[in-house]
Amino acid sequence: MANQEDVFKKVISHAKEYGYVFQSSEIYDGLSAVYDYGQNGVELKNNIREYWWRAMTQLHDDIVGIDAAIFMHPTTWKASGHVDAFNDPLIDNKDSKKRYRADVLVEDHVAKIEAKIDKEVAKAAKRFGEAFDKEQFLATNARVKGYQEKATAILKRLGQSLEKEDLADVKTLIEELGIVCPVSGSKNWTDVKQFNLMFGTQLGATAESAMELYLRPETAQGIFVNFLNVQKTGRMKIPFGIAQTGKAFRNEIVARQFIFRMREFEQMEMQYFIKPGTQKEWYEAWKEKRMNWHLSLGMGEENYRFHDHEKLAHYADAACDIEFKFPFGFRELEGIHSRTDFDLGSHEKYSGKKLQYFDPEENKSYVPYVLETSIGLDRMFLAVFSNSLREEALENNTTRTVLQLPAVLAPTKAAVLPLLKRDGLPEIAEKLVNDLKWDMNVAYDEKDAVGRRYRRQDAVGTPFCITVDHQTLEDETVTIRHRDSMEQQRVKMDKVKGIITDAVAMKAWLKKI
Ligand code: GAP
Repeated sequence: MANQEDVFKKVISHAKEYGYVFQSSEIYDGLSAVYDYGQNGVELKNNIREYWWRAMTQLHDDIVGIDAAIFMHPTTWKASGHVDAFNDPLIDNKDSKKRYRADVLVEDHVAKIEAKIDKEVAKAAKRFGEAFDKEQFLATNARVKGYQEKATAILKRLGQSLEKEDLADVKTLIEELGIVCPVSGSKNWTDVKQFNLMFGTQLGATAESAMELYLRPETAQGIFVNFLNVQKTGRMKIPFGIAQTGKAFRNEIVARQFIFRMREFEQMEMQYFIKPGTQKEWYEAWKEKRMNWHLSLGMGEENYRFHDHEKLAHYADAACDIEFKFPFGFRELEGIHSRTDFDLGSHEKYSGKKLQYFDPEENKSYVPYVLETSIGLDRMFLAVFSNSLREEALENNTTRTVLQLPAVLAPTKAAVLPLLKRDGLPEIAEKLVNDLKWDMNVAYDEKDAVGRRYRRQDAVGTPFCITVDHQTLEDETVTIRHRDSMEQQRVKMDKVKGIITDAVAMKAWLKKI
């Protein structure tokens, strides 16, 4: 079996080769952690966004959408806590001049200890064969227990030091663990310093009149500052939600996992405004709703799990992630946060404007509590893309590369292929394309042998190929080849649109939520 690193490399090269994701400004050697979406990537991204948008706004009569600007008044970020608290602890190696996130250096060290545990387990499994009981081994083997205790103690100390903002102790921990710079191999570290992740810019023409702005690091604040506008103009009654998708920017220090962690990325966020005291039940309800949205795409229940936050952000009274099994392991895909009245309360304080709701049932006004769901669109793209890419061994001893995207998200739904470039077959195929293109993205391909054309469509993720052959001339039938099973069915040409629409229509998939 290919190792994780090879699988991930394959994902990245496939994304480039088939027009999904390119490095930004590649002809100038690229820009680190910034990416462009190609001709197929933009379609997949649009489809994921639409699938989220429709699930949120169309299927919930109490959720509406907005599109707030990226630039916001700078006080927004003071009120939200980002100016003071949106920091990463950084450390530089004096010899290599490389900069690292101090917490990531420690976590990578712990990952090495955990890898030793995995090695011991693999060795024991081999030694004991079928009789091997992993749980018992983990609980009783002295060496493994020693590793586990060490890993837990390190993470606990790191958590406590970060919580207390004791950056000197984070440096001491790095020194005590003997962590070396991966580039220079030296332990010659600077002190640990906090580094704010927001990108600054200026609004205005002259230096004197210019206003210092930030590029928004999350879309959520555009929703909070519009809470009353939407509530009043939409005559919304609590509980209700506001959804938004859009770009966010973070000056990430450790940005090395392709589109998993980017400096410019897109978020899909929904803030659900609720009565204070009801946050626990809404937290549970939204955890379930969001998990069901993910599962409706059929990417395997075993690839998702919840992870509760131990260290809560300054605004939250409960928070968890939905983690997905990426090629490099389980990582955060989406966050679900119970944000209390922190944001609206803080904007009230900083703006001097009341951000309250008059509850007719309670006959009083209050600052609503907020339940947030927040997912990275690019991260969802990576989850879908990496999960779909397969190398399949075929019966004839060949392999095929197939991108088994959920059909509802595939950039192109069908490719129409005339078997030969003559005998009137291309004309019939073009007619079929012209008929289908009003309902879906459809491709036409007449180059190379049909087998090679099937492989090309498999690799790009097209769920259906429709082949026009000589029998079509006789009885107006074509074959529909299914990407995943490679099975072919012969159907009347006038049935094609219905068959494909049933399989790819967003409505049918949304109904599974
Ligand atoms: N409004 C809450 C918020 O922004 P977050 O956990 O910082 O919470 C939410 O981000 C989601 O945004 C994450 O679960 C992830 O999917 C995505 N995300 C965050 N930083 C990202 C980055 N640098 N690149 C790509 N996606 C990112």
